[in-house]
Amino acid sequence: MKVVIIGGAGGIGSSAAFNLLAAEGTYEVVLVDTRPNMITSHTMDLENAAALGRTSTTVRGGTVDDALDADVVVLSAAVPLRLNSSRLVFLADNARIVDEVLAPLAGSSFAGVVLMLTNPVDPLLTHVHRQGWIPRHRLVGYTLNDSLRLRTGIALALNRHPRDVDAWMLGEHGDHQVPLYSSVSAGGYPVTLTAGQRAAAQSYVDTWYQRHVALDSGRTSTWTTGLGAARMVEAMATESGAVMPASVVLDGEYGVSGVSLSVPVVLGRKGVARIEEWDLIDDEREGMTRAAARVEETLAELHQA
Ligand code: LAC
Repeated sequence: MKVVIIGGAGGIGSSAAFNLLAAEGTYEVVLVDTRPNMITSHTMDLENAAALGRTSTTVRGGTVDDALDADVVVLSAAVPLRLNSSRLVFLADNARIVDEVLAPLAGSSFAGVVLMLTNPVDPLLTHVHRQGWIPRHRLVGYTLNDSLRLRTGIALALNRHPRDVDAWMLGEHGDHQVPLYSSVSAGGYPVTLTAGQRAAAQSYVDTWYQRHVALDSGRTSTWTTGLGAARMVEAMATESGAVMPASVVLDGEYGVSGVSLSVPVVLGRKGVARIEEWDLIDDEREGMTRAAARVEETLAELHQA
């Protein structure tokens, strides 16, 4: 499987490349970025790491033209991070980057999948879909970190390891996320959190982004996002049938149409093979409706800017 990472010199893009190198599948990984020396630095490093790989995966530098016949284009290109109150502050600048980077694909016979890591992912994915050159099932937005953070917050409240916890965060990858507390399990058994445990878990997820931004470290979640993106590519390549959270433009699912939100999906080689429609309780469905309205409002602000 050919995977082209646009933004490949950045922390997230290079982390995704490293995790694909360490994965079980065999990939031709191409790093594309505006910083050639950084690309060369990563490929010189990763080609040595390949000697420790489990497969004959390769990593090289390339150009956007490499994306035209890619099976998956991982898009992490973005403006530099800065202190902010919400990922939404990056929308206008990153929409320009996304449009510029994807323009060659839009006018081509590109038949692969775009895995969008660039934020704010839900409005950006909706923005690209509305351009009409790529069907919704081949546009996948990265939102796995929200569910991972919910699992971590619940694990901390239950004094368990995060990998023991199964919990899902749907909705917007931002302030309008929708935690599914009605379907939490730990160690394979359903769990009903106490009010205190739920409050602690909710505080963990609600404050994570602001706590991390406040560090002003100049980096984002490169380890989690790089690993998570690689796992999503693996799920596509192997058609494992694993259910994962991803932002997808909805067409009536969960009562939402025309807007990309995080929902449970099954991935395949052509992107979203299936959207899982789970029974949500009323406040969860209402949360999805509010999240969709927020994404729509955000896009309206973009087009008025
Ligand atoms: C995060 C980035 C992916 O939440 O938005 O870590």
